[in-house]
Amino acid sequence: MSRISSADFPPDFLWGASTSSYQIEGALDADGRGPCVWDTFAAAGKIQDGSTAAGACDHYHRWREDVLLMQQARFNAYRFSIAWPRVFPTGRGAVNERGLDFYDRLVDGLLAAGIRPMACLYHWDLPQPLEDRGGWLGREVIGPFADYAVAVTRRLADRVKDWMMLNEPNVVAIFGYGLGDHAPGHTLGEVGILKALHHQNLAQGAALRAIAAAHNGLTLGTVLNLSPARPSSDRAEDAAAAAMWDAVWNRTSLDGVLRGRIPPLLAERMAGFVLPGDEAAIRFPIDLLGINYYSRSTMQEVKGRPFDVGWGDPHCDRFTGMGWPVQPDGLYDLLLELKTAYGNPATYIAENGAAYDDQVAADGVVHDAERVRFIEDHLLEVARAARDGCNVTGYLCWSLLDNFEWAFGLSKRFGIVRVDYDTFERTPKDSYRFISEVIRGRES
Ligand code: BGC
Repeated sequence: MSRISSADFPPDFLWGASTSSYQIEGALDADGRGPCVWDTFAAAGKIQDGSTAAGACDHYHRWREDVLLMQQARFNAYRFSIAWPRVFPTGRGAVNERGLDFYDRLVDGLLAAGIRPMACLYHWDLPQPLEDRGGWLGREVIGPFADYAVAVTRRLADRVKDWMMLNEPNVVAIFGYGLGDHAPGHTLGEVGILKALHHQNLAQGAALRAIAAAHNGLTLGTVLNLSPARPSSDRAEDAAAAAMWDAVWNRTSLDGVLRGRIPPLLAERMAGFVLPGDEAAIRFPIDLLGINYYSRSTMQEVKGRPFDVGWGDPHCDRFTGMGWPVQPDGLYDLLLELKTAYGNPATYIAENGAAYDDQVAADGVVHDAERVRFIEDHLLEVARAARDGCNVTGYLCWSLLDNFEWAFGLSKRFGIVRVDYDTFERTPKDSYRFISEVIRGRES
């Protein structure tokens, strides 16, 4: 018997799942798609299990089945991302309408199934030709991103009302430009991280303004990975490390869009590339903020790493298959802080979930009790935050399907539906049935 049901959440709450184009679509050569930075990264042998996203979940061809799975789970919302290199194969120039045709079909399918499509414009598949011109390290990418936003909304905004600009600009900047674990694999440290963050903020601001100028009545927003930062000990150095990490991980994006502010702790480091007018340009009165929450960040001073910060002992006894601590109350803290310090913006959980070492039982099913408990524990915190007045409007789990987990390839499974990567067969896990029961509510 679940400890939570949809009756514990506000009316009209959004229930569903999130995915991203590169992680599920496959069909990387279909219909004129161009190369992206992750294709290059994988071709360079940077994916730990040697896999690529060439097949992924073959969602490009099996999307009807995936929509049906969502409908059968009673989902009323779905966040997916649009692949920039399908729409602009070289990142700019002429629109590739065949690339947009795919999303056109998907959106119609979702609407017919009673599922609200929530589109994200950028979930990390930067067209390689734009990376070749500096990617997020420079300003050249800003115009093409705004043009892309306009092209996509011109085609789909008659049916898609919810538009998210970016997904986790901090992760792109830190792992893609600072540490090198993600595409495009730069190890530029602090300067790479801060430049990539700032230019994503600028591109986001430009895209939001361009869409708002062209359309009325849309819900405009973005998706941030937020993680309350705590020191790993009571040493002053670790407290300073946590404050610095908070500025880098959380505030650059959050204060950028909501307050038009560069975090004071970083102002000096960013002075060389923040121009007059930038702070106004990155601010925008968004309608909806998506939050991806996985865990808290417990930080310590580590000399020699960017910002002299590294992850410390989280003092936790539960971990996911990624080795991430399970800390559901961090999600409550986060929502409460948005309420008290940021004016209680409309937010939804755009990602929350866990990879575990799933086993297929003799009955062919994955009885993923740990994932069920993870989701239930986080839902309890979301419900508590809603009861305490936080303006939280939905919960989309990560992820609908097992998928291509970036540098981990196909080795980490986050889905509530298992995918057999040889046959592409989908098998709902217990967590899928659990969410469906929660949505159905107490009357069931
Ligand atoms: C990303 C997803 C990713 C998930 C699990 C988030 O950072 O948005 O693309 O698969 O976390 O690592």
